[in-house]
Parts: sequence; C-alpha cells; structure tokens
Amino acid sequence: MALGDVLPLTWMEKNGRASVGGVELDAVAGRYGTPCYVFDVAHLESRLEEFEKALGGIGTPVYATKAFLCTALAGLIAPTGWWVDVVSAGELAMARRGGIPASRILLHGNLKTRAELDLAVEGRAAITVIDSLAEIDLLDARAEGRPVDVMIRLNEHVDLITNRKVLTTGGHAKFGLTPQAADTAAARIAASGSLRLRGVHLHAGSHITDPALFGVIFERLAEFVVRHRSAFTSDHPVMLDVGGGLASPYLRTDPVLTPRAAADAVRWAMDVIDAEDRIGPVEVMMEPGRSLVANAGLLLYTVGVRKPLPVGGEMLALDGGLTDNPRPALYDSRYELLAAGHLDLPAERPFRVFGRMCETDVLLDSVNLPASIGPGDLVAMPAAGAYTFSMSSRYNALPRPPVLFVKDGEVREVVRRESLEDVLGGQLMMEEAEPWSITEMEKAV
Ligand SMILES: Cc1ncc(COP(=O)(O)O)c(C=O)c1O
Repeated sequence: MALGDVLPLTWMEKNGRASVGGVELDAVAGRYGTPCYVFDVAHLESRLEEFEKALGGIGTPVYATKAFLCTALAGLIAPTGWWVDVVSAGELAMARRGGIPASRILLHGNLKTRAELDLAVEGRAAITVIDSLAEIDLLDARAEGRPVDVMIRLNEHVDLITNRKVLTTGGHAKFGLTPQAADTAAARIAASGSLRLRGVHLHAGSHITDPALFGVIFERLAEFVVRHRSAFTSDHPVMLDVGGGLASPYLRTDPVLTPRAAADAVRWAMDVIDAEDRIGPVEVMMEPGRSLVANAGLLLYTVGVRKPLPVGGEMLALDGGLTDNPRPALYDSRYELLAAGHLDLPAERPFRVFGRMCETDVLLDSVNLPASIGPGDLVAMPAAGAYTFSMSSRYNALPRPPVLFVKDGEVREVVRRESLEDVLGGQLMMEEAEPWSITEMEKAV
C-alpha cells in the first residue's frame, strides 16, 4: 500500500536519480539503450526464498513460467527446491537449458500437441496436468504401457472477482474438467495401464487478494481426493495444487497479498478438514507466476515526444509500448511511471502516456510527472516484470528489447536486444522459397 511495495527491493534514490542493484538507471539506459527490461536479482532471490519459507513443512512452490522466463531466470530457480510449470515445448526447453531437472517440471496447457505429450511420455516432464477427457485417451495411447504421472485439473466455480480475461474457472472457462468430467477422469486414469494419478489441481485465476480463497481451493481439492482416494497412486504423497494468481501491487494503492498469508490459509484448511487423517500424506503445491517476478522487473523507456492533446492536457510518447508491454491494451492494466533521472522534482503535471505503435497504444491514461519532462528523459515503469517480455511481439517490425539482470553493481544482458537481422530472419523472397505442392506428398508416399 505504498510506492515501495511496487518497486524492486534494491531500488534506491540519490540526487534525484534511481538505481537498482547498485546501478543507476540512467547509466543502464546509456549503455544498453531503451526500451529495456531491468530485473533486480536480489528481489527475485528474496521472493524465491519467501515462497519456500511460506510453504515450509506443507509443500512446494511451482513457478508459472508463462509470467516471464529466460534461461538466466531458470538458472536462478534451478538450485532451489522450486518446481516450474510449463505449457509448451519452448518453455520446457528453456527451463531445462537453465538447469531445472525434468523431475521438477509440470506440463500444463489446455491444448498440448502430440509432440508435447510425447515429451511427457519420454519423462522430460515429471507430471502432466490433464485438461480434458480426450487428453487422457491420447496420452494413454501414446504411452503404450510406459508409466506417465498425471494430475487432474479441476474447473470448479470459486468466488473470485477479477478481470474476466484472467479468470480461469467457472462456466466460461476453457481450462480443466467440470466436477462430473473429473469423476470420469479419475476412474479412467485408474483403469489405464500407463497413467498414474499423482494429484489434483485448481488454478482459479489471477489477481487474488483474499488469502482465504486458497483455503477454499484446498478444501475443494481435498474433497475430490477423499471421494477418489483409491484412484491415486499410493507410492507418493498426494499433490494438491492450489494454483497461483496471488495479486501483485501495480499501483501504490493496490493491496499486497503475501505468500505467507496464502500458505497460512491452506494450513488452516488442512487442519479444519483433517486432510492428512482423511487422505494420508499430502504435498501442497502453489503456482505463483506474477507474484514472483512482477515487482522484481521494470521497463525503462525514453520520452520521445511531448505535445498538447486536442481535448486539452498534454501527452507523452515513449520509445516502446504495446510490443514490450501489451497488458494495458489487453487488460486495461494500470501502472506507475517515474521520472527515473528527476525524482527530486515534484511530479505534479498530469500527462497521458502513449507508446509508439500504430494502435492507440495508451500505456497510462494519466500520470503525474515533473512539469519539465520532455524528449530524452528517462522514465521507469515499475511492476513490469510479469506478462510483458513473455507476451512481447514484433508488431511494426520492432526488434524485441533486451532483458538485463542487475545485482551488486553489475548488469548482465541475459537476453540480448534483437537486431534487424533477427526481425528479418527466416524471411525469403518467393522465388527463394522451396516450392511444395500436393504432388510432392504423393511422390513421397
Ligand atoms: C495453471 C496456472 N497456474 C499458475 C498461473 C499463474 O498465475 P499468476 O501469474 O497470476 O500467479 C497461471 C496463469 O495463467 C496458470 O494458468
């Protein structure tokens, strides 16, 4: 509930200038250019530890890599006890390259390709989270008797009010199995020669601010396990995965939900329903994405244009936008914006802030910045670590910005800035491209 909650842990201000990880952001921008994603490694490390401690004695955190992944982040996660959740062969490959063992990977996704299911069969992910009845049959057929560990993803209505685009349960959600279908799934998996039921999962959606919801989710999962206890393998504790979705503060007025509060709500539910007496050994899994990375990261931009708006007031245009952070366009997400090189000046003049893409590309409806701000000035958008780089695009043929990890006065470009070569890569003139027609296929048969 304060600006400090939104900022990276090592954010400091000196002589009006901001630094992260002991490096002035002006200097970072000077060396690496803007836009760029800057991540505070100390913040990431501290969050990794905080979740592990919060779940201590009851379970394991699982990082939802869709929020942000690069091999360097996987490298920070690898030496911890964290698992990761991946939804594609690409996320899986990145996690593996960063050193995360297959034994700590959950394969999610509402539509896994056959090739991705084969990765599970080959043991390149520990557990596949079943999202439909058809997927059980497909996986079972591809396994051909080889053991494959699975979880069932439930879709049960829980009382979460959030942006409908990030609500993943309820009548309109595409994810998981309805209670009735989940009953069928448990029986079908138990009857399969290959699939072993290890657990059950429910991710309600994102921006959960009420910790009690995690207790409710745990109870739903536990009830399911009690009803189907014999369908679960008895070789391991039963995994009850309460999903992620812990809210992150984007604005200084946003509420903060701590990992400890969410984990304690689960502990309380475990006691109330005597989970271990009724089920036997259980392992709680919690799957945060944004709450690990959102506030560790920020986006740095340079102001390019300042001009009056036809309706009155003034606008700024920044040198990035929709392509590096599509969240304002997708979800009407709101952010803070700070004049990173002029924090000593009062932020008292309202501006509407646009990106440079050929859409409306409004990044902030209104934000107060110093009256003198103008072209060439650096601005920092905090809480921009989640669902930004991972959702970035090359719209308007813009190369993607770099990802910079900062720690102890050093900056490392862990994902390099794309070049025009990258943007043009893979493109051929029509006459350069190998022709193919149906007759080629016929010849091959
Ligand atoms: C299955 C699953 N788990 C975890 C998450 C992480 O959600 P959040 O980033 O809001 O914590 C998501 C996000 O969509 C998800 O689909």
